[in-house]
Amino acid sequence: MIVIIGSGAAGLSAALAAAGDLRIGSEGLAGSGAAGPDSLPSGPKVDDVLLVTKTAFMESNTYHAQGGIAAAIFDDDGPDLHAQDTLAAGDGLCDPKAVSILTQEGASRVREFANAGVRFDRGQDGHILRGLEAAHSRARVVHAGGDATGKVLEIDVAEMVRENPRITVMEHAFLKDIVLRDGRVAGVRLLVNDDAGNEANTDSNTANADANAAESTQPTERVIEATKVILATGGAGRLYPYTTNPAVATGDGLAAALRAGAEVADLEFYQFHPTALAVGEHFLVSEAVRGEGAVLLDEHGERYMTKVDPRAELAPRDVVARANFRTMQAQGGRPVMLDVSPMRREHPDLATFLAHRFPTIDAYTRSLGFDWSKEPIPVAPAAHYWMGGIRTDLFGRTSIPGLYAAGECARTGVQGANRLASNSLLEGLVYGRRAGLAAVRDDLTRGWAFAPEPFRNSAIPGMPVCQQPMTLQTPTVREGDTATPWDRDAIERMMWKGVGLIRDDGTLDATVRDLAEGLAAANLAESRRRDRGDVADVTTLENRNLLAIGYVQAVAAINRCESRGAHTRSDFPQINPSLAHSVAYRLQ
Ligand code: SIN
Repeated sequence: MIVIIGSGAAGLSAALAAAGDLRIGSEGLAGSGAAGPDSLPSGPKVDDVLLVTKTAFMESNTYHAQGGIAAAIFDDDGPDLHAQDTLAAGDGLCDPKAVSILTQEGASRVREFANAGVRFDRGQDGHILRGLEAAHSRARVVHAGGDATGKVLEIDVAEMVRENPRITVMEHAFLKDIVLRDGRVAGVRLLVNDDAGNEANTDSNTANADANAAESTQPTERVIEATKVILATGGAGRLYPYTTNPAVATGDGLAAALRAGAEVADLEFYQFHPTALAVGEHFLVSEAVRGEGAVLLDEHGERYMTKVDPRAELAPRDVVARANFRTMQAQGGRPVMLDVSPMRREHPDLATFLAHRFPTIDAYTRSLGFDWSKEPIPVAPAAHYWMGGIRTDLFGRTSIPGLYAAGECARTGVQGANRLASNSLLEGLVYGRRAGLAAVRDDLTRGWAFAPEPFRNSAIPGMPVCQQPMTLQTPTVREGDTATPWDRDAIERMMWKGVGLIRDDGTLDATVRDLAEGLAAANLAESRRRDRGDVADVTTLENRNLLAIGYVQAVAAINRCESRGAHTRSDFPQINPSLAHSVAYRLQ
């Protein structure tokens, strides 16, 4: 049995692939040739799957994605062109091979899902409709439900998963840790809330429970034995006070992988979306809105993006997010404005067009009293997506035998220093499937074939570099010290100030020290609980996870003394060509 943690695009795709769903297997693996890093070993084609989700089955970052899925499926486009745009946005840090797989196989996956019944928006003649988003040289973003692409995808693919008799879904089960034996994956330790309702809350499906949940109202700890585990746990927008991510996005898989000793990379590259609604829940206002012609204005009604970049509002996401941030700084922190009125040229009945093309955003803004067909709406950057993650090879294998990762929690090399809009669901579909196929076929008795692309490293004399790279150690406190647990507000405030959109050595240094202290306290509190036989609540464990990944992110950010993609250092404002490589970290 293969255990998959996470039920977004990557987890669902991995589950369907591992369970042998032929609807997403009709076209092969790009570049797959003789045995080697580009191909899978021959072997079994199908296995049983236990798909574990933290809350309800469909709650995930995917569910909340708006804009769409970038896919080179139209006549004026091609995977090579899509790859070029992806590489350019990634600012020198993408792995070209991983990107080529993404864009080639991505087109196949989107066609397959469309054929399997995923309800992408179509014109009257039946053709799939497409939108334009920032830094794409072609309109290639397919969408569903107008601006509810993630929700429609999640509902339709979850239905395929439910229909598959080989896949069992376990809801309300929080990943506490990865269980290792002799340096290999031996299972997962979960906190299961049986009362929340589960089709797999007993020992069924070879799940080997070491704690019986009975009818307790408290979540109970349970170990599921498995030699292959796929992490598809998504991102960690909840590190920050302003985020487009739902409450579940607390980086649990990444943190568990770190504790298990997995290599991670590119964590210093965190993407801030330029346009979240600046009131209420920082609700995402999709890039597709700018793709349809909306412009950004400062508080004097001046359009500033034309002065920042020739592509104006359709410059790469990091460029627009920084410009919004700096404009806000210059106007005392007040939000910038998103003005959709230029769309009126093509859509004279603007209110009707907005309600049809962007029904989710339209309904949300109206619920807050805005009529965006008549007046600009206030927007601001918000935490959105992690380019870095658990380092994988082209089949999702990580540095720990038996552990795979896919989707936002993984660092496959496709996102580089800055992700191109609407490439994230695509990554989940492509690399989730690859991880699922590999988990079925890899024969662990013959070794572990983790074969990531090597990171290049070429020092260029004369370029400014950091003094002494900071190393990464699991922070500890001495027995007897008081362990004061941090609350979520403290973590979010610390991260926004210290590892936000624009960083510098001074704030990063202080943040690293504070996060190390907070993590040490959380680790000590957890070890004391373990000694007492107590089980922490999920929020406490999520906070510990956020502290761990925030700490590693801050160390990675202090060590990258340049500005590249989404990582902006005010004390190192230039790109440094000798740093055109990723760095892998491991907690010691
Ligand atoms: C958006 O709709 O702007 C978000 C899509 C993405 O993050 O790629």
